[in-house]
Amino acid sequence: MNYEEAKSKMSALGQEHIFKYYDTLSDTEKAALVKQVEETDFSVLARIDKGADENRGTFSPLAAMQRSEIEAREKELHDAGVKAIKEGKTAAMLLAGGMGTRLGSDDPKGMYNIGITKPVYIFERIITNLLDVVKETDTWIRLFIMTSEKNHDKTVAFLKEKNFFGYREDKVVFFKQDMAPACDFNGKLYMEGKDRISTSPNGNAGWYSSMVRAGLDKILTEEGIEWIDVFAVDNVLQRICDPCFVGATILADVSVGAKVVRKAAPDEKVGVICLEDGRPSIVEYYELSDEMMNAKDDKGEPAYNYGVILNYLFRVKELAAVTDDKMPLHVVKKKIPYIDENAVLVKPSEPNGFKFEQLVLDMIHQLSTCLPYEVIREKEFAPIKNPTGIDSVESARELLKQNGVEL
Ligand code: UTP
Repeated sequence: MNYEEAKSKMSALGQEHIFKYYDTLSDTEKAALVKQVEETDFSVLARIDKGADENRGTFSPLAAMQRSEIEAREKELHDAGVKAIKEGKTAAMLLAGGMGTRLGSDDPKGMYNIGITKPVYIFERIITNLLDVVKETDTWIRLFIMTSEKNHDKTVAFLKEKNFFGYREDKVVFFKQDMAPACDFNGKLYMEGKDRISTSPNGNAGWYSSMVRAGLDKILTEEGIEWIDVFAVDNVLQRICDPCFVGATILADVSVGAKVVRKAAPDEKVGVICLEDGRPSIVEYYELSDEMMNAKDDKGEPAYNYGVILNYLFRVKELAAVTDDKMPLHVVKKKIPYIDENAVLVKPSEPNGFKFEQLVLDMIHQLSTCLPYEVIREKEFAPIKNPTGIDSVESARELLKQNGVEL
């Protein structure tokens, strides 16, 4: 694409303002901007007025494997999981491409130090948890780490500096997720530099397609990996590839296992696992009708009672059928850095526009079967989204201390 073509593409979209500084740019910068115009998918911008496509189907309950069953079958589940891990059939996928804007640090979220008397980094907690399984099974688990172009270099440099917190470097593979353009509330693209349109990571569902684009599915085939435990960077208590969860999912012979926690209250603000038109799905808390909130299962317990915690074990052979264009696009209000009319970079303190994301939870609905697997909230769910308050550094520290982790 040349400049004239790029200009007419953007004019047709009403976005020619992105070339405001074009004449002042160096040849390299000019070429970079034209290339970005060529490679970016701007079709997302048309979604602002329509919002997220929320034509939902008919919901029905999906029973979870509860703690009582897990404890009764512990040895059987554990043995099946250990066997699969020892055979190299499971990998771990750390989703670390997010911007962590709510936490408010410029560094990748995993670099955040949550220690009190000594440094304890979020990445360190995650890797230590995975190392527990490595030690228990005497098997190194392949660890994929998804970053984005915004945080990749810092993430890699930090983990190298820290010697991967004891993980074997040759077992770690990084890749970058794709980006989406970001715009103001009227749909006008922001610029993050004179030669660059503002972009942000395109959501955590991008992990599979970005991994394939990076050619890393080859590793899955070569190493005989059949299951991938996909998890968020910010839950510092979660167990990753833990044998009972792996064993339960394999023995249930489902497309995906999903760790879930029992809801604290019927109206708790968590996405609840269920069926939608007979396929596994997640219903958002604001989509739960009163009837669904009050529905009971055959034991008299709430029928929509298990919230997802972003820890899923996907069966690799079913992932090829999951495609991005079948997943809803979420239009989210976020704080987007931009250059103002004087070309000065502004980092807003309040949301100033839209980002476009596809979410990993929407992948579930493209699969045919799912096992919701109950974990104990106080032992496995300490997400860090904010500096203080709910789901924060403060609340996670309390939970870590309760679980005997020194901070
Ligand atoms: P969040 O939904 O909490 O988003 O991500 P975030 O970007 O980290 O934080 P905020 O909303 O800006 O404060 C949940 C998980 O998904 C990953 C995050 O890194 C985190 O592990 N994620 C999110 C990605 O890997 N890519 C994305 O595009 C978005």
